[in-house]
Amino acid sequence: MSAALIILAAGKGTRMNSELPKVLHPIGGAPMLHHAMRAGAALDPEHVIVVAGHEADQVRAAALAYDENAEVVLQEEQLGTGHAVDQAREVLKDFDGDIVVLFGDTPFLRPETLERMIATRQTHDVVVLGFEIAELQPRYGRLVMDGDRLVKIVEYKDASEDEQTIRFTNSGLLACDAKTLFEMLSETSNDNASGEYYLTEVAELANRRGLSVTAIACDETETLGVDSRTDLAAADALFQTKARAELLGDGVTLVAPDTVYLSLDTVIGRDAVIEPNVVFGPGVSVESGATIRAFSHLEGCHVARGAIVGPYARLRPGAELAEDVRIGNFVEVKNATLAEGSKVNHLSYIGDASIGAASNIGAGTITCNYDGVMKHFTHIGERAFIGSNTMLVAPVSIGDEAMTGSGSVITSDVEAGALALARAPQVEKPGMARKLFEMLKAKKARMHRGS
Ligand code: UD1
Ligand code: MG
Repeated sequence: MSAALIILAAGKGTRMNSELPKVLHPIGGAPMLHHAMRAGAALDPEHVIVVAGHEADQVRAAALAYDENAEVVLQEEQLGTGHAVDQAREVLKDFDGDIVVLFGDTPFLRPETLERMIATRQTHDVVVLGFEIAELQPRYGRLVMDGDRLVKIVEYKDASEDEQTIRFTNSGLLACDAKTLFEMLSETSNDNASGEYYLTEVAELANRRGLSVTAIACDETETLGVDSRTDLAAADALFQTKARAELLGDGVTLVAPDTVYLSLDTVIGRDAVIEPNVVFGPGVSVESGATIRAFSHLEGCHVARGAIVGPYARLRPGAELAEDVRIGNFVEVKNATLAEGSKVNHLSYIGDASIGAASNIGAGTITCNYDGVMKHFTHIGERAFIGSNTMLVAPVSIGDEAMTGSGSVITSDVEAGALALARAPQVEKPGMARKLFEMLKAKKARMHRGS
């Protein structure tokens, strides 16, 4: 059966106390919305509709960044989850299939659960996804069941004392045929504690129509809703635990798993070794057999087989490390390709550069890539040797097998095989140091005597 996915993402998320719309707060380096869209993609939906409202432009951009075919509809005023779903009515007017509603603030849904919902739709008209809460909390709608039948959903605020003790709660996910759902949404009212049009009222309305309404359960961790920074921190912790376990299962060594921070799109090959306290920001891939040593920070970069990074290295977007590259302590690399076997072992900045195979970049080398207005490129050939503390003032090019003397400030190109020295020549004054010391000591003694 064809399905249309509606992801609700218009709310401000008042309880987040933030300028950023709630669904754009990141979990594992990716906006919550992307997690929800990723989960929903398991249905292979005909339509992916994102309902945006608060800071709609930002939400639209994030939705399209994940799926360029997503359709973003606007909910100008946030009048409730039912009203939000209703904004997709126009886009779906010719759609004849099932609607699955997903919340942008419920990031951990598993594909299997969605499939289970669709399977249950074969035998029921409306299927709601619920979960048992371990501890009673003053949030989440309560699912009032009569055997297999979902009688109604009551929001915590609207629930009687008895209903508040129900542990079977609403995740927000709902599946129903499109035509019926939109008919029922026209019948919802905002006569409740929040004065909102609740999607949850649909359960009661469907019963009134004599339709079969049921709720299936999934694990609490899967449908945990994120409404506050506390929830966000808990959700991120949960994401990290799961992502680490997956990597360990995939044959990656995490020396101290609890200290490694991962992103939704982190890719690490088998037999790679990740030492303690490493941060993987978005867009990192590390090939098999590479080693990322302790306290390194990586984002938007690629590390090939056999490379060793860190300890204390920073790889920024566009860092491309080929096989067996070495990046050592306190080295920052940005928008730079390092060919096979090249080494930057200590205290360097390599930005907007390419380094040829087997070249050695001495300690303290800096590519001076920025003139205050524009960025410029440094090209270093193969098997070159850059002396310690060389300043490479870009744009500049160093040929294959060329050398620069330590402390040089290189402002023009160096041809292949040449040695470039660009520093003041050494001056030596015999006996001068001794004389200076004596002068200084005498001065100090005079000062002590107060003369
Ligand atoms: C909702 C459910 C509750 C459920 C809980 C699960 C309703 C009425 N309540 O409550 O039963 O237990 O989620 O986490 O459905 N949104 C819009 N437009 C609006 C209002 C909300 O797009 O006008 C979006 C929000 O951006 C969010 C989602 O809908 O992504 C849920 O809204 P939220 O305010 O978090 O609802 P809860 O109070 O958590
Ligand atoms: Mg919520």
